Amino acid sequence: MSKFLIEGGTKLKGKVNIGGFKNAAVAIIPAAIMCPGKCIIQNVPRINDVNVFEEILTELGAVVEFLDESTMSIDSSNIKSCYLENGLSKKMRASYYLLGAGLGRFKQSSTLMPGGCDIGERPIDLHKKGFEALGATVDVSEDGRVIVKADKLVGAKIYLDKVSVGATINIMLAAVYAEGKTIIENAAKEPHIVDTANFLNAMGANIKGAGTDTIRINGVEELVGCTYRVIPDQIEAGTYMIAAAATKGDIIIDDIIPKHMEPITAKLKEMGMGIEEYGDSMRVFYEKELIPVNIQTLPYPGFPTDLQQPMAVLLAILNGESLVVEGVSEDRFKYINEINKMGANIEYTKTHAKINGVSHLKGAPVKATDLRAGAAMIIAGLVAEGLTEISDIYHIDRGYENIENKFMNLGAKIRRIKDEQ
Ligand code: EPZ
Repeated sequence: MSKFLIEGGTKLKGKVNIGGFKNAAVAIIPAAIMCPGKCIIQNVPRINDVNVFEEILTELGAVVEFLDESTMSIDSSNIKSCYLENGLSKKMRASYYLLGAGLGRFKQSSTLMPGGCDIGERPIDLHKKGFEALGATVDVSEDGRVIVKADKLVGAKIYLDKVSVGATINIMLAAVYAEGKTIIENAAKEPHIVDTANFLNAMGANIKGAGTDTIRINGVEELVGCTYRVIPDQIEAGTYMIAAAATKGDIIIDDIIPKHMEPITAKLKEMGMGIEEYGDSMRVFYEKELIPVNIQTLPYPGFPTDLQQPMAVLLAILNGESLVVEGVSEDRFKYINEINKMGANIEYTKTHAKINGVSHLKGAPVKATDLRAGAAMIIAGLVAEGLTEISDIYHIDRGYENIENKFMNLGAKIRRIKDEQ
């Protein structure tokens, strides 16, 4: 097991390049098995969730290779079925996209219940509701095996009573091959929904309206291989923006789509950060004392739940009170005990965190309780006095590419050490 050791107190300066969006890549990679041909996917982040998908797709019979550092070739011609025997699906949440993708292409699919970050109850009832509306049956055995199958899939109108990224994408995948028209109402609007739809359309699907709350899918009979580039990771970019604010730094964030950053840009500007936008980059710089703000996480284009944790660390060191309301995830405040160990003063319930700003944090041994909590602990370490040691960093490696090198290039004193025990 490795740990991060961080010596706090450096203002971040320099340029950071943002990689492909994890949450788009982990939908697009399984979606590639829907075509009996070869897809070349560019701008794939080199993160552990992608490594797990490489193993899963190989296990299913695809030929997967990296043509260069970020270009993945997936040839699914030889996949005969989508039945994942082993427990790889438990290593991450996004393995559930194999259910929709496999159901679409083979009319049946099976994986074990997906794993992923422990951020509260994460049911798949909406995915089930969507698959059933298209004519499939969904069974979950006592040992957690999910089996979805259909004689044929027929387009339907599906209303999601809660906005769900995963259910929207999964239903869209299955509906690509359904006969006739499928309409998903109250669909999620995140940039990775649009990116996945664009990828499917590049393979020959007929999807309209992705990015709005009504998505229309006209079923097609075949998909063909394509070359596609994954969009930049708005959450990775947002993490560095918040880190720049917390360390009173001045950084350039390169290879981004500034429009996707608006929910974060708006909040940081409200707090007093300087932000200059260019075509595909942004300068984020500290000019004056930041003021605390309240945030409520909401589906896109609201403030993203995936940046709630890094943002809380920033608010924890500002002069004054702020309130964070978690409106998407069921239980995403476990990391607060860790920041409080570093001297923060935050009280919380399941959905609300009341932050009383403190003048400084102190380095301490802390844990990454999940992926974004891990990023938040790095930011806490960067601003704390003294040394911070973060354990359980495998969570961070699941979703952040090359994170210590990117922070080191911005001047941070961070290194990965092997745990001796
Ligand atoms: C995706 O998770 C992301 N994961 C999460 O990112 C992200 O936090 C989340 O969307 C919200 O933006 C991936 O893309 C792999 P949801 P997902 O379905 O699809 C409830 C990260 O840090 N719900 O939009 O699981 C659910 O419990 C990760 O990168 C149901 O009730 O999220 C939650 O409260 C963590 N029934 C809410 O909806 C369902 O069938 C939103 O979940 C499905 C979801």
